[in-house]
Amino acid sequence: MSSNITCIILGTSILALLLAGYLAQKYLPPPKPKIVGIDLGTTYSCVGLYHAVTGEVDILDTQDGHKCIPSVVAFSENGILVGYHAEAQAEHNPNNTIYDAKRFIGKKFSKEELQHVQKQYSFKLELDEYGMVRFVISVNKTEKYVTPEDVGSIIISTLRKSAEHNLSTPVTKVVMSVPAEFDIMQRNYTKKAGTLAGLEVFRIINEPTAAALAYGLHRVLGFQNVMVIDLGGGTLDVSILNVQGGMFLTLAMAGNNRLGGQDFNQRLIQHFQGVITQKYGKTLTDREDLQSLRHHVENLKLHLTTYESFDIQLPLYSMGTHVIFKDKMTRTQFEDLNIDLFKKVLEPIEKVLEAVQLPREAIDEVILVGGSTRIPKVRELIQYFFNKPPNVSVDPELAVVVGVSIQAGIIGGMWPLTVSAVEAPVQAKKIQLN
Ligand SMILES: *[C@@H]1O[C@H](CO)[C@@H](O)[C@H](O)[C@H]1NC(C)=O
Ligand SMILES: *[C@@H]1O[C@H](CO)[C@@H](O)[C@H](O)[C@H]1NC(C)=O
Ligand SMILES: *[C@@H]1O[C@H](CO)[C@@H](O)[C@H](O)[C@H]1NC(C)=O
Ligand SMILES: *[C@@H]1O[C@H](CO)[C@@H](O)[C@H](O)[C@H]1NC(C)=O
Ligand SMILES: *[C@@H]1O[C@H](CO)[C@@H](O)[C@H](O)[C@H]1NC(C)=O
Repeated sequence: MSSNITCIILGTSILALLLAGYLAQKYLPPPKPKIVGIDLGTTYSCVGLYHAVTGEVDILDTQDGHKCIPSVVAFSENGILVGYHAEAQAEHNPNNTIYDAKRFIGKKFSKEELQHVQKQYSFKLELDEYGMVRFVISVNKTEKYVTPEDVGSIIISTLRKSAEHNLSTPVTKVVMSVPAEFDIMQRNYTKKAGTLAGLEVFRIINEPTAAALAYGLHRVLGFQNVMVIDLGGGTLDVSILNVQGGMFLTLAMAGNNRLGGQDFNQRLIQHFQGVITQKYGKTLTDREDLQSLRHHVENLKLHLTTYESFDIQLPLYSMGTHVIFKDKMTRTQFEDLNIDLFKKVLEPIEKVLEAVQLPREAIDEVILVGGSTRIPKVRELIQYFFNKPPNVSVDPELAVVVGVSIQAGIIGGMWPLTVSAVEAPVQAKKIQLN
């Protein structure tokens, strides 16, 4: 009899506890995220927060309503500019506007390699005594150098500030992502960039793993082969992951670091230059007109993702005082101009499958990352190759930052508790196809 009562009392108190927990969850403000997720990208960078209770991820607006900011930092008489603000003045301050810093972070170069790479940039590169690259800038009549991790830390600080603004609390902890191919040094220097920005870097995860997390693959039971295809502005990266119960193993990587959105734009520019020569009887060489054409071509390309046909219209000052160039392009024309490049996307896909000796049917999930995977023809070729549609429910430009933020939330111990991603160290070596 007495044991029965104890049991009931115990039962009631457990119920009360559960009820308190339920009420707390329902009526108390949810805990604020303790750790943020940052995707420090080659061309764009973004910051995200994982919300307990709802399990949702917010990617924050960082500049003028933009979620991601260009990974560009400029040094000028007016101080240091970041993101869109740095990009806006790039043409007038090319020597002190640094972009692509991620290509140099934690990486040793030989003198010959550096000479070769220097040709692609308007800012000055030099090697320090350890063979690491630094940028030479000249502001306020003095020459100074900044390292790739300095540039990274300035971008991270900007992202940190927008997170602090959004949360109204100081942010001190971060999880970051890096390309799967990054070695220990590159990871170390990426971490250093975070530390220089005043953040404690809790963990560094691979970008393809982050993309898989964005799709919730850490919660899927059983064993899966996942292919992550990342086609950005200038590079293509393909990796095969083995995912099992929150454990991520990179089996193989392949890529082409000279294939991406910029190459598709270049084909369009060449096409319109031909049209312009025919129409006005002279070649377009004026720098500002070319810059304007480049800008309009990017816009045209983006619109051809949703529209079957789109107009282009811009003034060409070098062709005459009142010259407005007007033309149109259909999606089919755009595809015809680029089809050989689009087909090149399949090369590293075939290579990684070969490397791990898996047939294409063995891939359970195909995940697309990077803005250029929005191009309908690229998706179509991938779908045809795998004979099933790729997963595109997460915005391909945000998949990495969403995944890093989820990982940050899980490590931060946010409720509901979920399995965190654990990565086996990468053994695979990247196959480079150029
Ligand atoms: C250049 O000097 C001005 C005036 O002293 C200062 O405000 C600015 O921050 C300096 N620029 C850099 C990049 O240090
Ligand atoms: C920019 O750098 C180039 C080459 O390094 C140099 O010739 C040029 O004078 C520099 N321009 C300015 C404004 O400092
Ligand atoms: C924080 O960011 C989210 C997502 O962009 C937005 O909905 C919210 O209004 C922001 N809050 C503040 C205080 O800026
Ligand atoms: C990476 O950083 C740690 C701690 O800062 C250091 O002990 C280690 O030697 C570094 N490794 C490399 C390869 O730079
Ligand atoms: C991805 O797409 C495949 C094929 O359409 C589907 O079976 C799978 O459930 C999707 N997975 C996710 C995580 O969306």
